[in-house]
Amino acid sequence: MELDEIKRSMLNLLPNATLQLCCYTVVLIVSLMWLMRGTARVLRDSHWELTAKIPPGSRGLPLIGETLHFMAATSSSKGFYDFVHIRQLRYGNCFRTSIFGQTHVFVSSTESAKVVLNNELGKFTKRYIKSIAELVGNDSLLCASHQHHKLIRGRLINLFSTASISSFIKQFDQLIVTTLSGWEHKPTVVVLHEALELICKAMCKMLMSLESGDEVEMLQKDVAHVCEAMIAFPLRLPCTRFYRGLEARKRVMKMLEKKIEERRRGEAYHDDFLQHLLKDNDNACCDEVPPLTDAEIQDNILTMIIAGQDTTASAITWMVKYLDENQHVLHTLRAEQGRIAEKTSHTSSLTLDDLNEMPYASKVVKESLRMASIVAWLPRVALQDCEVQGFKIQKGWNINIDAKSIHLDPTLYNNPTMFIPSRFDGESKPNSFLAFGTGGRTCLGMNMAKAMMLVFLHRLITTYNWTVVNPDSSIEKWALFSRLKSGCPIHVSPIAKDAADA
Ligand code: HEM
Repeated sequence: MELDEIKRSMLNLLPNATLQLCCYTVVLIVSLMWLMRGTARVLRDSHWELTAKIPPGSRGLPLIGETLHFMAATSSSKGFYDFVHIRQLRYGNCFRTSIFGQTHVFVSSTESAKVVLNNELGKFTKRYIKSIAELVGNDSLLCASHQHHKLIRGRLINLFSTASISSFIKQFDQLIVTTLSGWEHKPTVVVLHEALELICKAMCKMLMSLESGDEVEMLQKDVAHVCEAMIAFPLRLPCTRFYRGLEARKRVMKMLEKKIEERRRGEAYHDDFLQHLLKDNDNACCDEVPPLTDAEIQDNILTMIIAGQDTTASAITWMVKYLDENQHVLHTLRAEQGRIAEKTSHTSSLTLDDLNEMPYASKVVKESLRMASIVAWLPRVALQDCEVQGFKIQKGWNINIDAKSIHLDPTLYNNPTMFIPSRFDGESKPNSFLAFGTGGRTCLGMNMAKAMMLVFLHRLITTYNWTVVNPDSSIEKWALFSRLKSGCPIHVSPIAKDAADA
């Protein structure tokens, strides 16, 4: 009887035991395969090192490479670029490291920027790590493979025509005037926070006519979570940054899905990017280029907010700081903007033509972008073994064009750490200004971003005097783009009042 019971309980346990055994075996096999792959890669790399001139640098610890150093820089007040800067000083213009299990080469010369970014021989592509693709979406312009990218970009580029930028400038100008009117009642204005909110509002309106305060605020928070997750360790556990980012992405996708359904049912019609993309979809039969699918539309609307909001807001913040630190530049700028203000006093908002008459302000914008290098490096992947700057690059390696080092190279820019807008009086050396990238992946929103910076500059300069309260230049931790930790708090006083007081 007892023996029978033992047998029965053994039989009950059997499925569990078998399952456990299977699991252990699978884990063992996967671990072995992973180890073998790692070993094969190390052997292949060692062979490569012996036979070719590979970039100098350290591979760091086995398997994790220099990931911990990279993460330490990301969470320090110097920002993640410090990781690159230290190695660039140690090894020179081209060096190699290993982060997140992948080999990364950083190069900082205009010749390599030309070769890699123009990619005339098709040896490089842009590819983000899998975790980033999960956050922005596989159909995002940022992650799409060469052919797919061409197709999506071909569709999106129509949205950035001169006509749509002109109409955007008008909307953006009105939004700024309203925003600035509230500043004089605030004891302190944190430029970064204000700029993020302003640009998020402007982009939500332009992309999908989203104007409800609550919806815009929710979206802004969700986009911030997605951006944070893009540089977080891809650990899919609740409470991690990565998980929060994935959840935020789901909410954004759901909201976009709802908007698309509303438009399809004819419940709403607006003259915005979303409507144009859906219209392309309806007219598909008459067009050679296939229209974007709903998934592509959703991923790329999120991509544009990610690519446009933080970057432009950070650039505006740095620009305000640089101007505060360089009063002689501010003085020249005020004279130019005063003339524009006189000319446009009878019109309700600024136009593209007005912006074209701001040569000095345009140089201030360009110099701010050079100094701040918001997108510090431009990532690509080698599709075949090749040579860059005299060094062998192995197929599959990540090759990053270090735009920040190029922007601060004294052989390209005299006194590179000084804010001198007039340095752009003449032609720049080819591939020495990479704030918006170059080649087939050049920033789609480049003209829109420049327009936003100019409109902001004009309205700020002609409305207020300001002083920066906290001059700290520390960089925000865990930020995808180079952002001031302080957010640049300022005190403002209206120009007209100052003049009356004087
Ligand atoms: C000051 C503000 C901005 C800066 C500094 C900036 C910078 C850049 C850079 C450097 C790239 C190229 C990256 C590479 O080659 O790997 C890029 C790509 C891109 N940017 Fe911007 N950007 C700004 C504003 C905007 C705005 C306002 C939008 C949209 C409205 C936008 C949309 C995009 C898109 C969609 C791409 C991907 C293009 C492609 O892969 O074909 N950006 N941006």
